[in-house]
Amino acid sequence: TKKKLWGGRFTGQTDPIMHRYNESLSYDKRMWSQDIRGSQAYARALVGCKILTEEEKDEIVSGLEKVGQEWSQSTFQIAQDDEDIHTANERRLKELIGPVAGKLHTGRSRNDQVATDMRMWLMEEVELIQNFLVELISVMVQRARQEVDALMPGYTHLQRAQPIRWSHLLLSHATYFASDLARLRSLIPRISVLPLGSGPLAGNPFAGLDREALAKDLGFKSVGSNSMNSVSDRDFVVEFLMWFSLTAVHLSKMAEDLIIYSTAEFGFVQLSDAYSTGSSIMPQKKNPDSLELLRGKSGRVFGQMAGFMMSLKGIPSTYNKDLQEDKEPLFDAVDTAKDSLQIATGVMSTMTIFPEKMLAALTPDMLATDLADYLVRKGIPFRETHHISGSAVKMSEDKKVPLSSLSLEELKTLSPAFEADVERVWLMEESVERRDAIGGTSRRAVLEQCDRLIREIA
Ligand code: ARG
Repeated sequence: TKKKLWGGRFTGQTDPIMHRYNESLSYDKRMWSQDIRGSQAYARALVGCKILTEEEKDEIVSGLEKVGQEWSQSTFQIAQDDEDIHTANERRLKELIGPVAGKLHTGRSRNDQVATDMRMWLMEEVELIQNFLVELISVMVQRARQEVDALMPGYTHLQRAQPIRWSHLLLSHATYFASDLARLRSLIPRISVLPLGSGPLAGNPFAGLDREALAKDLGFKSVGSNSMNSVSDRDFVVEFLMWFSLTAVHLSKMAEDLIIYSTAEFGFVQLSDAYSTGSSIMPQKKNPDSLELLRGKSGRVFGQMAGFMMSLKGIPSTYNKDLQEDKEPLFDAVDTAKDSLQIATGVMSTMTIFPEKMLAALTPDMLATDLADYLVRKGIPFRETHHISGSAVKMSEDKKVPLSSLSLEELKTLSPAFEADVERVWLMEESVERRDAIGGTSRRAVLEQCDRLIREIA
């Protein structure tokens, strides 16, 4: 027990299950680098309050450097009593440089230390996640530009609704991801708040500790303004979990569209082999497992978000061990976010589309709105033209002919306003091209969306 950092007042042994239950090293060791850098900066700050001499600081900083090398070379030996990354690193530092290591933790607590490590770690991960998201959006924009001419049915209620460009559908998803990117970027100022220098809860008692300099040294944008808040605030974890819950919903929606479009019944898209799997019994199968996992993972992250919110609820002020439960959901969500975004990018950049299948699925009844709009242009109020067009749909169904095959005479029985130029209504290309207002599916409006998305991710 005397080997434990906090073992001074203890005489009894820790129950072995208690040790396993309490330890976090098995998962928080992934923050070894942040823990080392945080401690090195703290050692530099301790020179300012005359706790450390320059020489002592140098010894500690280079000792920590060696500890870091052991982690990076996978030679760090975990000792039986190591509890978390903070105690493990300090224990090892003492083995390497002797008793001077014991000065490092002056005025510091694992409470401000762990919160500092986590924020640093998350800021670095958010940087990577941003890049993956930017990559996904740019791949989608690139596809949209290349395949801008492919037309397909647009659906509402999964029923054929109006012709659209395939690229317009792609960009509808990319636009969600652009909002996700903006939301992710907006989290950064609230993640990048320095807890170090808060002590266990009441603040740091050593005069001369320059927290502003410490923040700068560690790349934090601001300094925590209340020590009690700083040691217990895990809102940045919740916000990240919320962010990814929503982003995962968007990935899931897109995956669902592509799963449907990849069925033989639709046949609009086919996944590359790289992102598909086969069946152990049915040799013909090519299953879109990548997309199904993208869809399924959204449930997992939402569970982590809700679960951690429940852990936070009802904790009294400042640090309580419940807060250690922040790590596994956060780490898993970050891993899943990085994987999911890369998988989505991979699927998007390798999938094949079948424009002729998309085109073949376009039926003239999808132009019933355009037929009504045609009469609007002849001066008839839309509520009437909607009815007239509806009657034309009914007539085509009764006669068992496509809507576009009704003759001018037949149409004239429904409204005298129909003229020979009604022919043009049946051109799919013209239907999409008419939708040229900002955000529409015309070629120009789609290419404009591409430009706008590229500006947003810059
Ligand atoms: N492993 C702990 C955590 O992850 C570190 C902080 C422990 N602090 C304490 N006073 N027990 O939250």
